[in-house]
Amino acid sequence: MELDETLGQVWTPDEIANEMAREAFALIPNVKKILDPACGPATFSKAINQLGFKEIELICYDVDPRMYNFTSHINQKIGLKSETRNQDYLLDSSLENSFDLVIMNPPYIRQELIERETKEYYHQYLGAKLGVSIDKKSNLFALFLLKGILDLAPNGIMCAIVFDAVQNSAYGKKTLSILSEYAELISTKTVATPFDNVLIDAQILIYKKREKKITSIIQYQESKNNLFIPLENLLKSRRGTALPKRAPFLADTGDKYYKYSSPFFIKQNRLEGLVIKPDQRIYLTNSDLEKIDGFQDWMNERLEKYNLSENKKFVKPVKGSIAFNYYIRNAPRHLWNKDNIALSDNFYVSETKGDFPTEVAWLLLNSDQYLNRLTASARNQGNGLRKLQLYEYKNVLLPNWNLLSDVDIAELFDLSKDLIQSGAESKKIQELASNIVKKLMDL
Ligand SMILES: C[S@@+](CC[C@H](N)C(=O)[O-])C[C@H]1O[C@@H](n2cnc3c(N)ncnc32)[C@H](O)[C@@H]1O
Repeated sequence: MELDETLGQVWTPDEIANEMAREAFALIPNVKKILDPACGPATFSKAINQLGFKEIELICYDVDPRMYNFTSHINQKIGLKSETRNQDYLLDSSLENSFDLVIMNPPYIRQELIERETKEYYHQYLGAKLGVSIDKKSNLFALFLLKGILDLAPNGIMCAIVFDAVQNSAYGKKTLSILSEYAELISTKTVATPFDNVLIDAQILIYKKREKKITSIIQYQESKNNLFIPLENLLKSRRGTALPKRAPFLADTGDKYYKYSSPFFIKQNRLEGLVIKPDQRIYLTNSDLEKIDGFQDWMNERLEKYNLSENKKFVKPVKGSIAFNYYIRNAPRHLWNKDNIALSDNFYVSETKGDFPTEVAWLLLNSDQYLNRLTASARNQGNGLRKLQLYEYKNVLLPNWNLLSDVDIAELFDLSKDLIQSGAESKKIQELASNIVKKLMDL
């Protein structure tokens, strides 16, 4: 069937739809009423049918008459107790608190493309029901998420696959913040470019609706008590040492002034574990080095060879405890700079804010829960490579470690120190950290 892009049509691949259905059903064994508010070609009907549940009832919506016909037909054919409605889901105000499960791939439609009056109605309805004003820039999928939660019964589950704009945009973050007041985030998972012909990554979000709304556990604004806060509220980060050109600064054992060079770290791919060991040495010119006989001339000559002027020799080394390579291939990780050496600008270099122990931050940052959130905000560069800009890194919402108790922090401090001392394997550290975050932060 031809896609109607004006209706935000992209289809969820069957394997992903099956996985979403499986995970959602596992969370609500007694599921009865299910809603698919943007059904398309019966993708989730088929996925749900595979699970073989008998006592369920599925309500589907789609504004496209072709999708309505197709889904009605499929639902009938597979014998699901169901009703399909050729209607705008967002305009149906009769569904509040009705469903055990909402499963969806909502339409991604920019707000400029939505008719003004209709949009105003959506905003008015959702704003009044949720008691907040909803960002006018919200893409349609954000409104589907909000209405989805509204239409869930207490303790019901919402499982949605959405474009990663949900993490990367201001309206997306605000939407997540509103959602978190009404529902608990059970899991998030990034899926790299799941949709045919759309070069965009997606997130699978699973929420459980709370019995009662809570006030602002996650807030978009800064606050010390938020469960999730932007990385920049936890860490001071900057790019590593920028060399105007590498070659004239890199030291070679045969150099006359080699012994005056300083340890440097450029690449993580040969590193075992998560503790940095220098892999190069460079000349960091300072006033002491300048006093050494002949050094100035020798260095200037090297610079000249690379068309660099003399004053370029004063490179400001960037050192810091935690390093993160912002080109992400398979395994993103945070490295520990044990000997406080200068790090190359392949890395963002960070220290913690306040008096939170840096060692503990390093450990937590290596958990799946933290790393997945970072990867989810990175942009695809093709060939499995992703890049996270510094401002994106700083904006990622991360579990707030300031909420941990002093006792927990003290224990984690000892553990982190041991892991650093023993040069533990990265996989082991990641596993340990993920279990800790799960246990202590319930994530
Ligand atoms: C992203 S597709 C997902 C389809 C299917 N659930 C899947 O995952 O393969 C979203 C669907 O929502 C429909 N749609 C767009 N606006 C809608 C609205 N306001 N109410 C209900 N359905 C809508 C589109 O026609 C499209 O079929």
